[in-house]
Amino acid sequence: MCGIIGYVGFRDARTVLIESLKRLDYRGYDSAGIAIIDKKLKIFKDKGEIVKIEKQIPQMKGTTGVGHTRWATHGAVTKENAHPHLSCDKKIAIVHNGIIENFNILKEELIKKGHTFLSDTDSEVIAHLIDDIYKGNLEEAMIAATKKIKGSYAIVAISQDEPLKIVGVRKESPLVIGVGDSENFLASDITAFLKYTNRVMFLNDGELCVITANTIRVYDKNQRPITKKEELITWDIKDSEKSGFPHFMLKEIYDQPETVHHVLRGRISEIEETITFPEQVEKLLKNEITSIHIVACGTSFYAGLAGKYLIEQLTNISVFTELASEYRYFGTRNENSLVIAITQSGETADTLAALREAQLSGCRTLVITNVIGSTATRIADGYILQQSGPEIGVAATKTFTSQIILLFLIALKLSIIQKKLGSNELYNYIVQLKALPRYVRDILQRSNDIIAIAKQLKDATSVFFIGRGINYPLSLEGALKLKEISYIHAEGFAAGELKHGPFALLTDETSVVAIVTQDETYEKILANIGEIKARGSKVIAIAEDKDSETEKHADFMLRFSAGSHVLQCIPITVVLQLLAYHVAHLRKCPIDKPRNLAKSVTVE
Ligand code: M6R
Repeated sequence: MCGIIGYVGFRDARTVLIESLKRLDYRGYDSAGIAIIDKKLKIFKDKGEIVKIEKQIPQMKGTTGVGHTRWATHGAVTKENAHPHLSCDKKIAIVHNGIIENFNILKEELIKKGHTFLSDTDSEVIAHLIDDIYKGNLEEAMIAATKKIKGSYAIVAISQDEPLKIVGVRKESPLVIGVGDSENFLASDITAFLKYTNRVMFLNDGELCVITANTIRVYDKNQRPITKKEELITWDIKDSEKSGFPHFMLKEIYDQPETVHHVLRGRISEIEETITFPEQVEKLLKNEITSIHIVACGTSFYAGLAGKYLIEQLTNISVFTELASEYRYFGTRNENSLVIAITQSGETADTLAALREAQLSGCRTLVITNVIGSTATRIADGYILQQSGPEIGVAATKTFTSQIILLFLIALKLSIIQKKLGSNELYNYIVQLKALPRYVRDILQRSNDIIAIAKQLKDATSVFFIGRGINYPLSLEGALKLKEISYIHAEGFAAGELKHGPFALLTDETSVVAIVTQDETYEKILANIGEIKARGSKVIAIAEDKDSETEKHADFMLRFSAGSHVLQCIPITVVLQLLAYHVAHLRKCPIDKPRNLAKSVTVE
């Protein structure tokens, strides 16, 4: 869950590392540090975000170094526990992301051999282990060290005795090489070095690389040299900057007219009346599918729940959406079922484990992810890229809407394969999809209405979100957005469930956000609003412009327009995102980095 960067080249490593750590701090920000070879190995690390400790970092001259931004798992947030960690002779420095499960045993052995440990982390054991084995060749020592450690890791190391190289190795934690001219990078995320290069090589589990300014050598898990394909990343560095917005989250909400367009690009054609996916995905969808299991965590799980409604509505396939953290241990596995894993980062540990379990049981697997080259893309039989650009804010926004749209495209494709969808219907859906960016833009222009309601909610102690059908997962997502960035207690409910328990919580201090759409459940949700109001709670309804009835029941209204759009859920989601954002902003919360949370949860 931490961010890693390694640099070797001609630039001032201090500047490169600090800048990269700023771009990485959404992976963790409780402490940070860098180590640079400036004749001798020099190190600076401390508690706090890189922006706060930057000024204290002394000038160092070298052009080879490693950096780390930490999100504590083993050991408290202290200067000693911050990375990099050093060998006893202070000549070797390592940064690590992951967990070393057998660190206690290794630590005891190394202490017996005379090593002195300065931190409580599992990571420090790696520096001492390499030191113990080191005989003048860092990659050889790293290979031998990784044979002894159990767990998951991305490790990057440098040695004062070999100042022109960095060595990296990965197992179940991301590590990617940035290929430059007379300089090279190693990082946990592409955004760390995107300012300098968009040429990348993705490492697979067990692979090790040795990088100098002009050479890149990669070895497979059996230490055989391999040739890696260089890939070009189409992300723009501007995508990983705030572009004048006060927060990444707001920028990413405002990116949505474009990201909605991008996710559709090349996949829908009203002229040819087709939905197109990469060949491996098309093959997966054409196979006989008796059921679909969607596995995911957090916001991606809620996208999966929405996907269940979309796919079941258009096909006769049963869809089971399951939390990856449960599925990995308890899920039912059926050879004829297709398992779709949804993961923005492509690195969430539970989702990867669920995917591996599904594959072991013979299921076909498909991944929806935003990150090309991520671990998930390399495990699954096929993958679909969200094309949303990097998402930096911890709260997922633009990637949630893209995931839902992709699930809808999958629903359409399956419906075509099952011959359930006529060409007129498909044509209409495609036309509606193309109009989506317009409806999203329309919501963004109504932000003042949303700010007015945010003012009503900013001092709330408890907010409920309710909806029926696909609006139920949206309610769960609306509640998650609010609670994670504003720290207000929030819960989402299927509106019909209120009377089975949650009613007991309703008082005149509770606010309820009700999502109202004019479908077969319209009358029911209006009745629910009446029941809530009878208990004295305030109701904020999100309803269409053309709906003139709901305002007679609710206390406050938020409006959206979507015509008769099948994906009304997209503009509604944007309303929910903006509502959460403005409440958190009014409460002066650290929106992009909510407490105790990190963007990518790469440990179980
Ligand atoms: O990268 P993933 O989509 O696998 O991440 C899963 C969750 O950690 C993530 O969706 C999380 O719930 C959101 N960042 C919350 O806004």
